[in-house]
Amino acid sequence: MCGIVGYIGPQEAAPILIQGLKRLEYRGYDSAGVAVINGAGLTVVKRPGKLRELEKALRQAEPTGHCGIAHTRWATHGAPNQVNAHPHTSAAGDIALVHNGILENAEVIRKQLIGEGYSFASETDTEVLVHLIDHLWDDGAPLEDAVVAALRLVDGAYGIAVVSTRDPDKIVVARHGSPLLIGVGRNGEMMTGSDAAAVIALTREVVYLDDGDYAVLKADGYRTFRLEGSEVDRRVHEVTWNLDAIEKGGYEHFMLKEIFEQPTSLRNVLRGRLLEEEGDARLGGIENHQFDLGRMRRMVVMACGTSWHAGLVGEYMIEELARIPVEVEYASEFRYRNPVLEEGTLALAISQSGETADTLAALREAKQRGLSTMGVVNAVGSTIARDTDFGVYLHAGPEIGVASTKAFTSQIVALALFTLYIGRRRHMSVVQGREIVRALQQLPAQVEEVLKLNDEIRALAEEYSDARNFLYLGRGYQFPVALEGALKLKEVSYIHAEGYPAAEMKHGPIALIDDDMPIVVLAPRDPVYQKVVSNIEEMKARNGRIIAVVSDDAPELQGKVDRLIRVPHTIPSLLPVLTTVPLQLLAYHMAILRGGDVDQPRNLAKSVTVE
Ligand code: AGP
Ligand code: GLU
Repeated sequence: MCGIVGYIGPQEAAPILIQGLKRLEYRGYDSAGVAVINGAGLTVVKRPGKLRELEKALRQAEPTGHCGIAHTRWATHGAPNQVNAHPHTSAAGDIALVHNGILENAEVIRKQLIGEGYSFASETDTEVLVHLIDHLWDDGAPLEDAVVAALRLVDGAYGIAVVSTRDPDKIVVARHGSPLLIGVGRNGEMMTGSDAAAVIALTREVVYLDDGDYAVLKADGYRTFRLEGSEVDRRVHEVTWNLDAIEKGGYEHFMLKEIFEQPTSLRNVLRGRLLEEEGDARLGGIENHQFDLGRMRRMVVMACGTSWHAGLVGEYMIEELARIPVEVEYASEFRYRNPVLEEGTLALAISQSGETADTLAALREAKQRGLSTMGVVNAVGSTIARDTDFGVYLHAGPEIGVASTKAFTSQIVALALFTLYIGRRRHMSVVQGREIVRALQQLPAQVEEVLKLNDEIRALAEEYSDARNFLYLGRGYQFPVALEGALKLKEVSYIHAEGYPAAEMKHGPIALIDDDMPIVVLAPRDPVYQKVVSNIEEMKARNGRIIAVVSDDAPELQGKVDRLIRVPHTIPSLLPVLTTVPLQLLAYHMAILRGGDVDQPRNLAKSVTVE
């Protein structure tokens, strides 16, 4: 999920690799490392933390050589420490490998390799691949044959680069589900990188690999192949963007990039976790912990901001589908109000960063009171991830924009997986389980559909860009979405916005409504749809300007609302994922039109580590 760089050619590799890693720094990472080959062997240097730590170590080690690979890691398996940092090496220290992504069947292969006598130094999924390559490498065969043989046995997502002193004058690279490209140098040198920023110092000519491609890079050229065996020709592209644009993947801001990454981040949170036949979820973090679900009577969710909104969706899901009472607490309130916590209560902390001080304090309070604790966290190895007894990682990759977007939708999906997991161990039938599994499988592609509304939503934002207030309304599963839509707008566009349960309007806020008040109503076809239609009637009667988010033709609303935004349909518990995306886009475009700094809005920090 983070950065890969590789270099082969006449220059010293290490400085070029470091320069490439620096260009990838914007992606966020937790540790970094390089491996360089020379006549005497392979030198690997890695460090947790920032690149300057790695640079310091390199000044001492001074690896020389003209071929090497490097990595910035965003941990998915195992804490962000020196041992788990990449490159990973074979036992003899003659093969080094860097990997972006997640290998799904790593555990199974790890056990097999241990049976063959291999031992593992790290907790990563990646290390499996390097020992597997070693194991499958036939005497005298080229490195790429062993790499291909190993890749045929792994499931999951990867972008990899491999070097070996056994076959020293090459870098073998491959991709499946994680981006990788070749940088074609002019003067007898080649590079590889997980994005163009990594190679741009050397060349602007790049070859993007397709999923299922591998390539062999030598100083004087490269060849690209399919994993099945045939050689393929991949076009050379000229990178015409400037560095800033490359870092943001061609998007103007990280927030927009992250909104558009959601199909991928959702695929990642689901990766390897759905059991289609059984209508069930596989959640290693819970299974390995042997948490006694039978003893769970209640749950208390602790979170802040957007994560708290995800917690509300979780409450509705877990209560409806797994039939366990759930309370969602603002983490900042929880510890100061002496809540009643009976035995059998599971405390669930939800956090993108895993470092939010309020959430951490609430978690510690819960622990002190003897509760079992669980985390739904994005940052692997973060304090909250470490301090909880067990958990479910989001695997959404680093979120750079201060406004949380992709983490929110992944949190909802992680909570849906958890609901499925506990539901199936309680009252949920296999039929219902399968229905949820199917809906989850379709979700990433459905989000892709929603993203096609971008132009329409930009036009909508233009129409409303002078508004001073906004109301967001929803009921049931859509109430937390209303809160989240309003929070996004406030954060990045500085427009005052309120999220409200649609039916509560008549108890007060309806007094605010006039023809100057845009109201976003979440009205997908779910069990409360007709009720929401009635609420819309009430607001229309007071001349409110209504933008309705629907999930079908919504004939009842035609002609009654000012704008209809249509998203695909899914089961009610997952509709929040689909209805949130247009609201993220709306907040983004409103902010741009009003000149806000969307990635770093005033007064806000990405991770709030103070109480
Ligand atoms: C959302 O856009 C925020 N910037 C903020 O509310 C955030 O969700 C909150 O601070 C919690 O952060 P966490 O998920 O990293 O714990
Ligand atoms: N899954 C690998 C790990 O946890 C790679 C992480 C990454 O993509 O940076 O080490």
